[in-house]
Amino acid sequence: MTTSSHSEKDRVVIFDTTLRDGEQSPGATMTHEEKLEVAETLDQMGVDIIEAGFPIASEGDFAAVHEIAQRTKNAVVCGLARAAFKDIDRCAEAIKPAKRGRIHTFISTSPVHMKWKLQMEPDKVYEAVVAQVTRARNYTDDVEWSCEDGTRTEHDFLCRCVEAAIKAGATTINIPDTVGYTTPDEYFALFQMVRERVPNADQARFSVHCHDDLGMAVANSLAGVRGGARQIECTINGIGERAGNAALEEVVMAMKVRSDVLPFWTGIDATRLTRASKLVSAATSFPVQYNKAIVGRNAFAHESGIHQDGMLKHTQTYEIMTPESVGVKQTSLVMGKHSGRHAFMHKLQELGYELAANQLEDAFIRFKALADRKKHVYDEDIEALVDEEIATAQD
Ligand code: KIV
Ligand code: ZN
Repeated sequence: MTTSSHSEKDRVVIFDTTLRDGEQSPGATMTHEEKLEVAETLDQMGVDIIEAGFPIASEGDFAAVHEIAQRTKNAVVCGLARAAFKDIDRCAEAIKPAKRGRIHTFISTSPVHMKWKLQMEPDKVYEAVVAQVTRARNYTDDVEWSCEDGTRTEHDFLCRCVEAAIKAGATTINIPDTVGYTTPDEYFALFQMVRERVPNADQARFSVHCHDDLGMAVANSLAGVRGGARQIECTINGIGERAGNAALEEVVMAMKVRSDVLPFWTGIDATRLTRASKLVSAATSFPVQYNKAIVGRNAFAHESGIHQDGMLKHTQTYEIMTPESVGVKQTSLVMGKHSGRHAFMHKLQELGYELAANQLEDAFIRFKALADRKKHVYDEDIEALVDEEIATAQD
């Protein structure tokens, strides 16, 4: 959200690709209705650009992009197209109803991709960049160009292609880490280098797009922003090809919580993150890992006695953001074998019990014995053992 302390130059645009790169992850297919619901949620939470699909890929993808383009109120609706006129024409048709539509066209620029995948000489790839961006610009003035496998691309060639794409009319330049190979320092330096060397670099917005093969997608995305990129491509729950993409909820909250060292801001309403995560998980049938940052069910849960004691004294002892800030009702103190007296007493108060000191001690011993045997100790278990303790004391 905009506040007086935010300056426009630090605004980072969020480009969500849950419905395109996310849906490409094996087994994450969504139905048409599910896609519409996810797109509506993304739009409501303040995503700037929704990459709604790959229109040439199938009739279903085309229909989803087309209907999302018709319905979306605020966000730019984007479709993906390879470097082929038929892809771009189909994409243009799909985004036509959008209030604001974007064509995202890409071609590989790394030696390994050009030689083995495309089987094209670099000069031919260069020509394709110019031809495809020019074609896309006939349909919309919002054109994004991506150099697939950008982080393994030779620097001179990368700069030549970026310059040509901007000259042909690309307004966003995405340098993807397609195979999750880069590191934060390297990605930071890459953006600095390209922005310094390409003469018309200031005419385009630069974008990061990171995969998580080495578990660095979020760190790399933030490093790219520090290097001058102002668009992050990401997905809800980090779903995506292979190990996934940078997780939207993580990049957004990193910039909010650590604004001291990451002085950037987005238009995302973070209180909607948990709902969006649940929706995407249900639509894709991909469970969210329990310890997932921000949206995992343990992200605001504490079991150890030391942590529970700290939390009962002050929540900032073990939480760096409030659960409410990401749409979780409250912190949970999970009762288990690591819980201590303080948390146990707190739980009894919550359940409405007032015990004498000796009863409390006996009940605590019983609770510990139970917790050693049982993985989950529910409120009902505690009620049962306290009731038993009270009954024994009355005998
Ligand atoms: O990972 C990648 O390179 C992509 C491109 C299509 C942007 O998803
Ligand atoms: Zn990707």
